[in-house]
Amino acid sequence: MTEQKPDMDWNEAVPTRRGVLRGASACLMAGAMSGSGAAAVRPIPFGSAAEIGAFRDDARYRDALKRYCDVVVPMNDLKWEALRHDQPRFDFSGADELVAFAQANRKALRGHTLLWGEALPNWAREMTTRAEAERELVNHIEIVVDRYKGKIATWDVVNEVIKYDPTDGGPWRDTIWQRLLGPEHVDIAFRTAARVDPKARLVLNDFHFEEPIPGAAARRKVALDICRRLKDKGIPVHGVGMQAHLYADKGIDVDGVQRFMRDLDELGLDVEITELDVIDWKLPAPAAQRDRIAAALVSTFLEAVVSAKRPKAIVAWGLTDRYSWVHETFPRKDSARARPLPLDADYRPKPMMAVLERYRRGLA
Ligand code: XIL
Repeated sequence: MTEQKPDMDWNEAVPTRRGVLRGASACLMAGAMSGSGAAAVRPIPFGSAAEIGAFRDDARYRDALKRYCDVVVPMNDLKWEALRHDQPRFDFSGADELVAFAQANRKALRGHTLLWGEALPNWAREMTTRAEAERELVNHIEIVVDRYKGKIATWDVVNEVIKYDPTDGGPWRDTIWQRLLGPEHVDIAFRTAARVDPKARLVLNDFHFEEPIPGAAARRKVALDICRRLKDKGIPVHGVGMQAHLYADKGIDVDGVQRFMRDLDELGLDVEITELDVIDWKLPAPAAQRDRIAAALVSTFLEAVVSAKRPKAIVAWGLTDRYSWVHETFPRKDSARARPLPLDADYRPKPMMAVLERYRRGLA
């Protein structure tokens, strides 16, 4: 059976007729293939963040990116830390390599990220004046967005600008950008990105939107407020990225997610899942059990999203358990390797991959 390819024009600012027609015929074919009589739907492109070290050293990693992904996101190589280690000189080596790979293999690209309070070089952390911060931010965005214009069609313009718990003295996260520029740091970033590449899709990316905790509802509200405020000022914003680092021990606030989707819809905003993985540090040890729980969690989460609004893309924060930030950031007490991703450490698809493939093929 031929695999259904999602519409590769997904991340163009204006959908093309070619893209729409291709999407429609893919849906019909998916329907004919499903054999279940269930109505087929628009396939959702699937992608992964790519780590430059693994990409360079591990041919199986590159093959997996080619085989499973429609979208590639440089995991760390577009962050300030990588690009701006020396203040005056930009180092595009890692990002260029991943962009070239994506282009050669006809993968769409997401850019992560133009503004973040973390992954900054020391000189940026040590800025002291408003004028300096604004000059550096604008200059950075102009150079980076311009370099990848026509190649990177979607940008996480700002990342994690919302306070961890906005009910506790929020709404803004305390970063160098917020300290020196105030809330305007978000306006400057979006305005500059839109000016340099008016066709780019511009996204606000953040985490903890789906957790069943009071702070999550407040985070959703702040995200909506920021986007509404940008729109009121005439500054383009096209969507919200839900990082979706899902805590297996906490579960999903299905009602909250669905309400968020409807609110985004009302504001005319897209949603995309940008950093999907499962934090399994509190789960029991047996691998098969952890994989089953992870797949069920991802399924519950995606069903909650898709039942209210189809995301533009579903991107996992890595592909294989062989390489993942979860292992170090959320270590298990028993020291067993984390199992956060759709492929195991030997590149075998886990139950989570079956869940993801259903969306990728337009069967769910
Ligand atoms: C993480 C990367 O996966 C690690 O390799 C790196 O050491 C630290 O950053 N939220 C984000 C991502 O927006 O950029 C982070 O990525 C994970 C949390």
